[in-house]
Amino acid sequence: MPFVAIDFAAADAEVLATHAGRVIAFADAGLDPWSKRLDRLTRGALSRAIASEGWEKLKPGEGLELAFPAGMAAQAVQLIRLPKNATPAQLRKAGASIGRGLGAPGGLVAGASVRKIEHLAEGLALRVYAFARRAEAPKAPGPVTLFCADPEASQAAAAGLLARAEAVHFTRDLVNEPANILTTTEFANRLEDMRALGLEVEVLEEDALEKLGMRALLAVGQGSESPSKVVVMHWRGGGDEKPLALVGKGVVFDTGGISIKPAGGMEDMVMDMGGAGVVAGVMRALAARRASANVVGLVGLVENMPDGRAQRPGDVVTSMKGDTIEVINTDAEGRLVLADVMWYAQERFDPVAMIDLATLTGAVIIGLGHEKAGVFANDDALCADFLKAAADTDEGAWRLPLDPAYDEQIKSRVADVKNVGGRPAGSVTAAQFLQRFVRPGMPWIHLDIAGVAMVGKETAFAPKGATGWGVRALDTLIRTRFGG
Ligand code: BES
Ligand code: MN
Ligand code: ZN
Repeated sequence: MPFVAIDFAAADAEVLATHAGRVIAFADAGLDPWSKRLDRLTRGALSRAIASEGWEKLKPGEGLELAFPAGMAAQAVQLIRLPKNATPAQLRKAGASIGRGLGAPGGLVAGASVRKIEHLAEGLALRVYAFARRAEAPKAPGPVTLFCADPEASQAAAAGLLARAEAVHFTRDLVNEPANILTTTEFANRLEDMRALGLEVEVLEEDALEKLGMRALLAVGQGSESPSKVVVMHWRGGGDEKPLALVGKGVVFDTGGISIKPAGGMEDMVMDMGGAGVVAGVMRALAARRASANVVGLVGLVENMPDGRAQRPGDVVTSMKGDTIEVINTDAEGRLVLADVMWYAQERFDPVAMIDLATLTGAVIIGLGHEKAGVFANDDALCADFLKAAADTDEGAWRLPLDPAYDEQIKSRVADVKNVGGRPAGSVTAAQFLQRFVRPGMPWIHLDIAGVAMVGKETAFAPKGATGWGVRALDTLIRTRFGG
């Protein structure tokens, strides 16, 4: 269930005057039939609102507020600017505007003349989210009733979108959770709980990883008290076609290891499992909507700590693939984890395509900030489909290059490759490193989500903190390109 209860109901004009929470109505150049009713109740307050200077400045989906309107029991009327044939994106934005202002008494959305109101419901469900570990848990706002022309049809159209919004919240919870609580073991437990949804979940422990030869991944976790794990989640919704593989970086905390990070801002590294969080959220969404696709999600769960047993700069480790890696900087740990999990994903599942997600480099934040994730792909068609899915779900994404010319920067004197390539093009050399662990001919996308997984200010669809970026884009890509 999403955090806010949403109820689809037939319009009832009586309730407009008596609802004690927020009443939400719509207008553009003029009032719609339902905001006209409210206008009569309030003796013209809404007409005056849309004639005001402030109204002109509003973008579609944004609104203004009339507090404690005379003639109504409501705490406020929120009047939202929405064109007649609003796009899904405008509708989602309207939903987010509603969600942002919602409180304990809940709301009534006079949306009976809004078409495709399911998209508004999605924006609303996404935006109403809270995470806090306080003595008193955050309270859910009161329920929201959506008046619609055909409640059953709208509810049916919204079901999959609302299930997906819940999966986005699941990802946000994982990413927001502090690292003393979300240890590798706790993370694996939360994934195992998803068996109840019909997912197959398998946890590989250190001895199994050792046997598989995942020395690169194990080296990252060897300084931690938390055992390293790989979790495999399988959704078999299709026939016997090969699966899409999703691979996530799950560093539950990244101190940098012996190449320790500066103290200032180190607490942000609780989100260094963001890639694994998104993979988990996508798998949850697939199960919740009973998707007709075959998808396998793999996450490498480790903690990067300095310790007497930690790996050191200069160590050479052998990956599962067999390539040796010179560890110049223990803080470039994500690529070591991904190298082994990506190789394992291909060896075991022979996927049709592979997409990895990781909070991999600070450099991608310098390049793209917090608006767009970095996209690297060896397949133009797959990349175009992903960028389309991201655009259709309001998730920022921008393609950056792969090119063997950058391999020069990660040549090692003593090993097959080294794990850092210096400051220039830091996100590209990280992607080039990963590409060594992609089989020839395997369609592959690498998503560097360091800038978008967690943001220091509220975004359109999330309060400050974890965003769940990527769950909706990948779910949409799977619907359109990998079987539904
Ligand atoms: N987890 C970090 C990347 C990161 C930085 C994520 C900021 C989110 C916000 C990653 O493991 C890391 O430390 N990368 C280094 C690589 C460098 C040592 C080559 C970086 O980007 O500084
Ligand atoms: Mn690091
Ligand atoms: Zn990291």
